[in-house]
Amino acid sequence: GAPVEVDISKLEPGQLLTVEWRGKPVWILRRTPAMLKSLTEDNNLLADPASAVTDQQPEYAKNPTRSIKPETLVLVGICTHLGCSPDKRLDAGVASGLGDSWPGGFFCPCHGSKFDLAGRVFKNVPAPTNLVVPPHAYISDTRIIIG
Ligand code: FES
Repeated sequence: GAPVEVDISKLEPGQLLTVEWRGKPVWILRRTPAMLKSLTEDNNLLADPASAVTDQQPEYAKNPTRSIKPETLVLVGICTHLGCSPDKRLDAGVASGLGDSWPGGFFCPCHGSKFDLAGRVFKNVPAPTNLVVPPHAYISDTRIIIG
């Protein structure tokens, strides 16, 4: 499939844009400082906090935010269990419908897998690995090419 070029100049903090790449949904989330802070808390709740499973992200996204720029997350929106597309429950706490301890992230309604705001999978859910970060690059400050 052809690479997809995306203009992210209109993306507000906390906003998520969905584009299609190779027939798959790709999410681009502009994380707020609070969202980024949530990534550093409770790492022992995560199955693979350091992104050790190497084929789930390119080498340049093998870092605590799983991204090139900390605020901008690029993620394939497909659950690593059986391929449903998780819900985007970006709000922490009760507003997400997942209770007080939910830090914000992605919730797969099919069998209940949970992922944080870097697409890292929580322990004790059916999904075996973190969500996939697709190959991508910045061609300018506000344009990303995926693929
Ligand atoms: Fe997402 Fe099963 S497909 S939890």
